[in-house]
Amino acid sequence: MNEEPLVNPEVVSMVGDWKGYVEAKLGFRNHWYPVRFSKELGEGQLEVIELLGERLLLKRIEGKVYAMRDRCLHRGVPLSKKPDCYTKDTITCWYHGYTYRFQTGELVNILAVPESKLINRRKIVTYPATEAKGLIFVFLGDADELHDLAKDVPPGFLDDDVMILGKHRVVNSNWRLGAENGFDALHIFIHKDTTLRHFRTFNFPIGHTPLPGAVQLIEEEDGPKGVMDDFAQHKPVWDGVIDGEIVVSGPRSAQVQGTSASVGTSIWLPGVLKVDSFPTGGLTQFEWYVPLDADRHLYVQTIGKHCPTPADEVNFANEFEATWKPHALDGFNGDDIWAREVTEPFYADDYGWVDEMLCEPDETILAWRRLASRHGRGIQQKIDLR
Ligand code: FES
Ligand SMILES: [Fe+2]
Repeated sequence: MNEEPLVNPEVVSMVGDWKGYVEAKLGFRNHWYPVRFSKELGEGQLEVIELLGERLLLKRIEGKVYAMRDRCLHRGVPLSKKPDCYTKDTITCWYHGYTYRFQTGELVNILAVPESKLINRRKIVTYPATEAKGLIFVFLGDADELHDLAKDVPPGFLDDDVMILGKHRVVNSNWRLGAENGFDALHIFIHKDTTLRHFRTFNFPIGHTPLPGAVQLIEEEDGPKGVMDDFAQHKPVWDGVIDGEIVVSGPRSAQVQGTSASVGTSIWLPGVLKVDSFPTGGLTQFEWYVPLDADRHLYVQTIGKHCPTPADEVNFANEFEATWKPHALDGFNGDDIWAREVTEPFYADDYGWVDEMLCEPDETILAWRRLASRHGRGIQQKIDLR
C-alpha cells in the first residue's frame, strides 16, 4: 500500500481556515453525488463507476439501483473484469466463485466451496443509491453519517414540477478547479467571446466585483450548505483598457436589462453550482463536479425548468436539444472545461493553493473554501482503485 500522504502536509499547514478543503483532494466523504442519468442504467444492467477514488458496481434490480464495491474479498480482483451474474441479484467472482448479493453485499455462496464457514459471515461494502430528477445519486460514505439527499442539492433542484435535462463528461482536472471555475465571479472574462452570444442577446461585462452584501453564506442546520453571490450587487467593468486605449469590451445591449447573462450563482456542498436565469431567463443551470480521483472529475451538467404540463415538458426537451445542449452545455461550458484542464498542472502538487495570487473578487472563492471546510462531512483519505 502506498503510504505517501495524499496532500502535501506543508501546504495543509499553511492555509489556515480552509485546511479541510485542501485536504479534500478526493472530495468530501459522506455526501450524495450524481453518477449517471437514470436512463443510462436499464433493468438488469451493470455499470462500473469511479467515485472519490473508489471503483463501484451499479446495478438496477427490479427498478431499484444498488451500488457495491467492485472488489472480490477473496483475492481482491475487480468483479467487473468478467461479470458473472447467474441470478438477477447476485454477482459471482469469475476467479473462484465467491458470490455476493447486490442489495447487501453479503457473501451468500462460494460456488466452488459451498460448505465454507465464510458464507453469510462476510460482506463487501455497499453504498446507498437513490434516484431523483432523472439522475442516479450514490451516497459515498458511512451508514451512521447518512443524510437526506435534499441536504446535498441546491434549493429548487427537487421542486415538484422542475424538469431536469443534461449530460455528463469527464474533465481532466481536480474537482475543486471545477467548482471554483463555476463560482469564480471574475472568470466571466473567459466568456466574452462565447458562442452563446449568437443564440441569445445578453449583457456580459468583462469583469465584475462583488460589493458589500453580494455574498451570503447559507449554513442552516437542516438544509444544504452554500455560498450565494448576487450579481445585482456587483460593480461591472465593461471595457478593458491598456495605456489609455480600449482593447476589449464585453457584449452589451441597450435592449437587455441587467449587467450579466445570469442574475447570480451559488455553490453548495459537496460541489454543485446553481446558476440562476441561465442559459436564459426561466431556466436554471445545476452542475456538479464529482471527484473521480485526484485529477479527474465527472462534470454533470443539467438545466432545470418549471414545466407544469406535459406540453411544457415536450417544448423544453426540444429547446434543450436544439439550443441549450449544443450552445450552452457544449459551447459556453466548453470554455470552462478548457480553463480547468489548463489550470490543473499548477495545483496538481498542492503548492498552487499557496502560490496563487488571488485578488479582490476572489473573496467569493475563499468564502466557499472556508464554508466547505466547516461543513464537509468527512475527508476521503485515499485513492483505492486497485
Ligand atoms: S478472487 Fe474472487 S473468488 Fe477468488
Ligand atoms: Fe464559466
